[in-house]
Amino acid sequence: MLHRRLFVLIDNLSCGATNQHISEYHTFKLGDLSPHVFAIAEAAYTSIVDDNINQACVISGESGAGKTETTKFILQYLCTITSNVSSWVQQQILEANTILEAFGNAKTTRNDNSSRFGKFMQVCFDDYNCIKGCVIQDYLLEQSRITFQSEGERNYHIMYQLVAQGQKNIGIAKSFHLRPPEFYKYLNTSNSEKINMSLESKKFDAVTMAFTVLQIPQFVIDGVFKVLSSILWLGNIEFMDVDGEVTDFSGSDQEAISSISNLLGLNRCDFKKVLLIRQINVRGNITEIPLKIKEAIENRHALAKALYSKTFTWLVSKINNCTNPGQDGAKFLGVLDIFGFENFSHNSFEQLCINYTNEKLHKFFNHYVFALEQSIYKQEGIYFNHVEFTDNTPCLEIIEKPPRCVFKLLTEQCHMPKGSDSAFLCNMHTEFESHPNYIKGSDRRHWETEFGIKHYAGLVIYSVGGFVEKNRDVQQDVMFDYMSSSKDLFIKDLSKYQDFQFINSSYPRGSSKSKCTVSDNFRQQLQSLIDVLQNTKPWYVRCIKPNLQKRPNTYSSSLVLDQLKYLGVVDIIRIRREGFPIHLAYKDFIVRYKCLMKYKSFECPQKYLSNILQISRMPPTEWQIGKTKIFLRNAVYELLESNRKDTIYKNAVIIQKYWNRYCCQKSFIRNKQAVLRIQHAYRGWRLRIRFMRMRRSAIVIQSRLRGVFAREVAAALREMKRVDEELKKRDGMYGQLTSINTNTLADCERLIQEELSVLADISDEIQASVKPLNDNNTSESNTTRALIQQDTVDLDNIFIFLCESNGSFDNALIGEINDNMNNLVKDLDEEIKELHYYDGTPGKLSEFEQLLNPYPTQDARQARVIYGAVKRWKL
Ligand SMILES: Nc1ncnc2c1ncn2[C@@H]1O[C@H](COP(=O)(O)OP(=O)(O)OP(=O)(O)O)[C@@H](O)[C@H]1O
Ligand SMILES: [Mg+2]
Repeated sequence: MLHRRLFVLIDNLSCGATNQHISEYHTFKLGDLSPHVFAIAEAAYTSIVDDNINQACVISGESGAGKTETTKFILQYLCTITSNVSSWVQQQILEANTILEAFGNAKTTRNDNSSRFGKFMQVCFDDYNCIKGCVIQDYLLEQSRITFQSEGERNYHIMYQLVAQGQKNIGIAKSFHLRPPEFYKYLNTSNSEKINMSLESKKFDAVTMAFTVLQIPQFVIDGVFKVLSSILWLGNIEFMDVDGEVTDFSGSDQEAISSISNLLGLNRCDFKKVLLIRQINVRGNITEIPLKIKEAIENRHALAKALYSKTFTWLVSKINNCTNPGQDGAKFLGVLDIFGFENFSHNSFEQLCINYTNEKLHKFFNHYVFALEQSIYKQEGIYFNHVEFTDNTPCLEIIEKPPRCVFKLLTEQCHMPKGSDSAFLCNMHTEFESHPNYIKGSDRRHWETEFGIKHYAGLVIYSVGGFVEKNRDVQQDVMFDYMSSSKDLFIKDLSKYQDFQFINSSYPRGSSKSKCTVSDNFRQQLQSLIDVLQNTKPWYVRCIKPNLQKRPNTYSSSLVLDQLKYLGVVDIIRIRREGFPIHLAYKDFIVRYKCLMKYKSFECPQKYLSNILQISRMPPTEWQIGKTKIFLRNAVYELLESNRKDTIYKNAVIIQKYWNRYCCQKSFIRNKQAVLRIQHAYRGWRLRIRFMRMRRSAIVIQSRLRGVFAREVAAALREMKRVDEELKKRDGMYGQLTSINTNTLADCERLIQEELSVLADISDEIQASVKPLNDNNTSESNTTRALIQQDTVDLDNIFIFLCESNGSFDNALIGEINDNMNNLVKDLDEEIKELHYYDGTPGKLSEFEQLLNPYPTQDARQARVIYGAVKRWKL
């Protein structure tokens, strides 16, 4: 499994990280696309999501091979894929790198931006697999660089950036007592090239911006810069020998002393004491001994280193506070960017620690890849060809295995009051003379100053000078005591921080045993790192340096081959070919690949396993079934994985199809119901409005029509009544004339009856014309009918009212009827008048008859007129 997780980054110079590249690799599995660190980052992230296991990317390679750049790519990748919008914590994680690089990186002969410390960045994820924060563990900052740099090398970047900013900004120069770079001895121990002031000043701005992103208050930032400036001033103190035993300050030192006291907020006398006197603890009594000039100079260097290293450690802890994931970030993906194997012309204690780290990681790698692998094969009864690999255990043992090892012998010397480098070397030669990984020196002449260790990556000769002193790491307790009462809040805080680091120390202060030595601390740190790595799923990125000239597009084959060999890549390729790198427990295998089988139930797991593999047509040489596990070669695993993914994908599509259909159907039905409801409501509303409008219109028409009919009928009835009265009048006269002609009167009566029946017909017709209107309404609801009935005019009442009233009608038709009636009455009056003169002569009777005859005709005409008028109106 592990061997797949190795990625060799050759020719880093051609790599570039853009969001487009990132999206190219996102969601693709390792091996699908061309090798890239993004593919490793993606695989590790996918593994966190799928398997819920912590991951670790171990990035190794020579100095300048691209470990730090790779770390940044991985962080950038993780930040990009876990969220579309860059969150504050992601920004803080990326900016933390800017600060760490400024304070922990420096120019060396091998790399212009060489990390002079190791770091393990644990990017923490929450339950939703989003970045929640980051925890940084730093390892062994190279302190010697503060006070001394070899030819062509530089101090830490931040020193130049601060001084350059001071040159640009007088305010900053004043507040931090800054001078030009040439002024400081700590910046000029070697002949390095000229400083590009504007570039350094720009970088300074980037650092202050990063501080702001990490929400570090301004007074703290100022405090950090004050410490840096003090360190630079410390380098300029020259001292003066008084009598060989006592040291004092030279005249030119006063400016440095007052500047440092000011910057650190210390009492000037206290500070002078720190520089000139040493306190030692003899059986609980603290004795002060004046320092000789050489000791004072060394003490001053130690003070500068202590200040810088404490500031650096404080910064790391501050960054951790800012990016702390809290309770949510339980899962993590760790990225280990640790110093690469180093072999210079002059190697010291730092190189021993660095190479020891690489040995330790190499052993972890070997153990994981080869030793563990082969012991599992044996346990499970798998047939395999033994894979030879370079086991570095003996080398590691010589450095760290108690009771007698390099570090133990060194610590021994550190705990001795008169411990020295030569005594340490002598002990080493005696102890390890016969050890296969030890040599006494490059040649006989250097046996008293050197020793050599054969590391997995080659032989390294170490110059023993300064080993004891560097390992002792003289702590500046007195100085930090004074600093704890400083006026500057940051300086106070920094002094307390020193106490935390050695909180477990059981030795009294000032004694030579008061603290763990540097190597002890480092060993513990490394062991806990290995413990963390052992509980993670490791991924390896081997960075290969293409050339030694720091040039792009230049490729040295022999250099690359050497690196491939000692980084174990060649061995890895071998074991990948010969071994079975993927092992899965029966249960896990069945759970994972059962989906490829039609029948899911089985009796014998081994048979079922081989069925799965046979059905998938896997060559039998590429897999083996052990006692509890199945062992696969990469080709088989890849194929099985791809088949599994295809099957899952197909099934997922089917499930999605059904689910989508179900959702669509559900939503369609809901929408349809909603639409129908709306339609019903709308139609009801529209019909109701229409009905109400029609009903109102009908009522208006009915009322008007009935009014007109009623009025006309009333007028007709009135006329009938009048005619009736007139006839009665005439009857009276007829009574007088009965004797004259009874027959004629009977005719008259008949005529009148006829007229009345004509009028009755008219009335019937009117009623008939009103009826359809009423009939139309029969379909309406009972309520509506009731309403209409309410609105209906009581015709009888109207008739009575109209008959009794003498109302005058504006209507022309009524007027016409009135006129005709009046004329009729008038004619009748005249005729009656004439009848008064009838004396019973036969001639006169016929005259009378003639007079009477026209009446029925006239009345009928009148009735016809009324009838015609009514009919016209109706039309
Ligand atoms: N992928 C890359 N793309 C472009 N330049 C790169 C890349 N990787 C490395 N480099 C160049 O190589 C230089 C050295 O890379 P880097 O600082 O990452 O090396 P390193 O392995 O961390 O070295 P050290 O052990 O000294 O810290 C970088 O400053 C950069 O100029
Ligand atoms: Mg680096």
